[in-house]
Amino acid sequence: MSPDASCLAFGIPLPDSSLHTCLSSDSVLLAAVGGPKWDAVPSEKRPERGLLKPRSAMELYTNIRPARMFADLSAACPLRADIAAAGIDFVVVRELIGGVYFGKHTTEERNGEQVATDIMAYSEHEIRRIAHVAFQMAQKRRKRVTSVDKANVLDTSRLWRKTVCAVAEEYPNVEPRHMYVDNAAMQIVRDPSQFDVIVTENLFGDILSDEAGQINGSIGMIPSSSMGDGSRGLYEPIHGSAPDIAGQDKANPIGTILSAAMMLRYNFGMAEEADAVEAAVETVLHTGYRCGDIMDQGGTLVGCREMGQRIRELI
Ligand code: IPM
Ligand code: MG
Repeated sequence: MSPDASCLAFGIPLPDSSLHTCLSSDSVLLAAVGGPKWDAVPSEKRPERGLLKPRSAMELYTNIRPARMFADLSAACPLRADIAAAGIDFVVVRELIGGVYFGKHTTEERNGEQVATDIMAYSEHEIRRIAHVAFQMAQKRRKRVTSVDKANVLDTSRLWRKTVCAVAEEYPNVEPRHMYVDNAAMQIVRDPSQFDVIVTENLFGDILSDEAGQINGSIGMIPSSSMGDGSRGLYEPIHGSAPDIAGQDKANPIGTILSAAMMLRYNFGMAEEADAVEAAVETVLHTGYRCGDIMDQGGTLVGCREMGQRIRELI
């Protein structure tokens, strides 16, 4: 049962039975969660809990979010043509079960007013293991890791930078770079071609991966995989639940479909099948079919259902 459905039916985002199902599965495919009806609800009763809980219970500390421009979607890229032409092909490696998302959250009354606190904590081992993932991935790509932090302000970021520097020494063929998160947000739109692998903590990764998704045409296109030390993973599109178009057959299903392709590739070692799904997506885009978020001049507008059907027919 989805976290949204569970909130509506039981008032809690993830019944123990659903968590147990996730924990006893080889792989989990998750759609988007959340909506304005839960804006005023305490965090443990929000649908987002139903997403954060399996991530942490399954110990999925690595979240991989590829940002690659599809050739046929260059018209949907909001960047200047010469910037896009330099190429956009990088991966955000987001730490997924640490930092402020999983620190203590409190809201209390102090001196007649409400005071809210969110603790952001990172330990060396949490940073080290995600840094290794990033450097190993860069070894198979263009051999550059950009570690993003806010080391000019935050202690967690200073520890992050020191730890990433130490890990980098084990990968002499990979070029390490360090960038403050505000600068990284700016560089992603100024010159995305400079990035190969970006590694960063949970909150920064959440924000930068939305930005990375959008410069590729639409966040609706971007899949993600979340993994831990074992082979088990959780796969989900990076977009939210788009409550403004819910139930109207307008959402772009491609982020979810490409997440299923990542599941085949990374979880089940089914590279050929993953290639087939990705090729079907590319063919449908090349033929001109577009959901509303990636619609361009000359494109044929289709709904979520038709887009899904057209992709399925080609697999
Ligand atoms: C994401 C989402 C989630 C996150 C929300 C829904 C809790 O934005 O997967 O990027 O912040 O991790
Ligand atoms: Mg997000």
